[in-house]
Amino acid sequence: TRLFVPRETTALAQGADEVAERIVAEAEARGVEVELVRNGSRGLFWLEPLVEVETAAGRVAYGPVAPEDVAGLFDAGLLEGSVMSPLSQGPTEEIPYLQAQQRLTFSRIGVTDPLSLEDYCAHDGFRGLRRALGLDSQAIVDEVKASGLRGRGGAAFPTGIKWQTVLDAPAAQKYIVCNADEGDSGTFADRLVMECDPYLLIEGMAIAGLAVGATQGYVYLRSEYPLAQEIFNEAIARAEAAGYLGSDILGSGQAFHLEVRLGAGAYICGEETSLLESLEGKRGMVRFKPPLPAIEGLFGQPTVVNNVLSLAAVPFILGDGGQAYADYGMGRSRGTLALQLAGNVKRGGLVELAFGTTLRQLMEEFGGGTFTGRPLRAVQVGGPLGAYLPESQWDLPLDYEAFAEVGAVLGHGGVVMFDDTVDMAEQARFAMEFCTVESCGKCTPCRIGSVRGVEVIDRIRAGDNREANLALLADLCETMVDGSLCAMGGMTPFPVQSVMKHFPDDLQRDAQPH
Ligand code: NAI
Ligand code: SF4
Repeated sequence: TRLFVPRETTALAQGADEVAERIVAEAEARGVEVELVRNGSRGLFWLEPLVEVETAAGRVAYGPVAPEDVAGLFDAGLLEGSVMSPLSQGPTEEIPYLQAQQRLTFSRIGVTDPLSLEDYCAHDGFRGLRRALGLDSQAIVDEVKASGLRGRGGAAFPTGIKWQTVLDAPAAQKYIVCNADEGDSGTFADRLVMECDPYLLIEGMAIAGLAVGATQGYVYLRSEYPLAQEIFNEAIARAEAAGYLGSDILGSGQAFHLEVRLGAGAYICGEETSLLESLEGKRGMVRFKPPLPAIEGLFGQPTVVNNVLSLAAVPFILGDGGQAYADYGMGRSRGTLALQLAGNVKRGGLVELAFGTTLRQLMEEFGGGTFTGRPLRAVQVGGPLGAYLPESQWDLPLDYEAFAEVGAVLGHGGVVMFDDTVDMAEQARFAMEFCTVESCGKCTPCRIGSVRGVEVIDRIRAGDNREANLALLADLCETMVDGSLCAMGGMTPFPVQSVMKHFPDDLQRDAQPH
């Protein structure tokens, strides 16, 4: 019998290793033979560790399984896929949270053994790369343009146009740089790709290399992801040995080499130009744009800088065609978005959906409301620089333009929920404080403005000349938005302004000064 226990950071944090050990020991004690596969996570975090068993009718799930549940699960017919146990979730693919998703990028996570090339190929792996090897560069770029894919790191710039700029830039050496410095609060989708389906990112980067004529790629990975680093490096080694990477990809005569570089732990190193500085071995300071990285990027050469999720969407696009991807979504937001449900939520996890679902559906139907069971009050979408949305905005469709219209962002798809005990003035203060810590210091509105922002909010919360200080805060926010060099200082006011607009009462209440 084949059993599956995830080897992925969230599942491990919930005791997946101990569960795996118990299963092996229990099977041995009962004299039954089991094959234990350490798969990736399905992204249903509230059910982790999620144990699956393969039956004639498909895979059946149990979760969340604690080590002490294992013996009871065997008694209740785990190996036959029995639904007698209270931990039974029934057939995995029929769990509503999973069934209601459109998994294009994440179709394999939790299904396969992340490091098995055989498993990857058996589930459509390298189909996109094989097709790309038969196309010329322009045809690959055209396919990505046809898909309508926009940068999933947060800025939503059309990926095909970025690639075109790099393809058209003449240079002896070009680079593909993958931004895996996933720093937004509540986000984990990049990590899931790298831990649970690493060949997907390898394939996406190799296709990008063929598309623009780059022979070297780097993944800039945040140092807080040691398991992703271990799994991804092993995947690179295996892909090279099997000819999917290297100087002669699958005998085509085309080359693509890939290396992982560890980030140094600064939020600003997720900004593309400071990431490039850091990759070059320098301190992560933001560069002026222009020149764009697409023209003068890493070591001054034309460089594609894309987020993990943008590159991970590419194998599907090449495999099934750009149109197949563009068939999902709404308006100018084509394809799917990887939403990451976190914060005060009952059912946290990864939800990949075509653009167009509403925030309310996401938080209620998938998230199941708050973890505490108290009423939901606010939600921050798009990381620490994203606006807080009040209930009046929860019926907005998840679409780049619809969000931009109300001064909000979808960003990298992080959705952090808060119940009615949240103090929104404290959240506004946190935005400014975060910026004081993470600012690279290059420009004044961000470096100094954020410090003044904390002070002004403290005065407002202390009831000191409240109206005048609120006006000053509004002014300061405007200056930061208009005068900052990059999104760090330019977007820090978004959460603050949303609190001023939608939760003004919280700023009228006295709080203890910090
Ligand atoms: P941006 O709008 O300046 O640029 C977007 C991308 O398009 C860049 O790669 C830029 O080089 C490229 N680009 C722009 N014009 C181009 C052209 N004509 N040809 C080729 N390429 C072109 O936005 P930026 O500053 O790179 O990113 C800001 C976003 O980052 C925010 O919207 C935020 O949501 C997101 N963000 C994401 C985080 C994460 O952890 N994923 C963390 C913090 C912010
Ligand atoms: Fe640096 Fe902040 Fe200016 Fe960005 S806005 S360049 S992080 S000081």
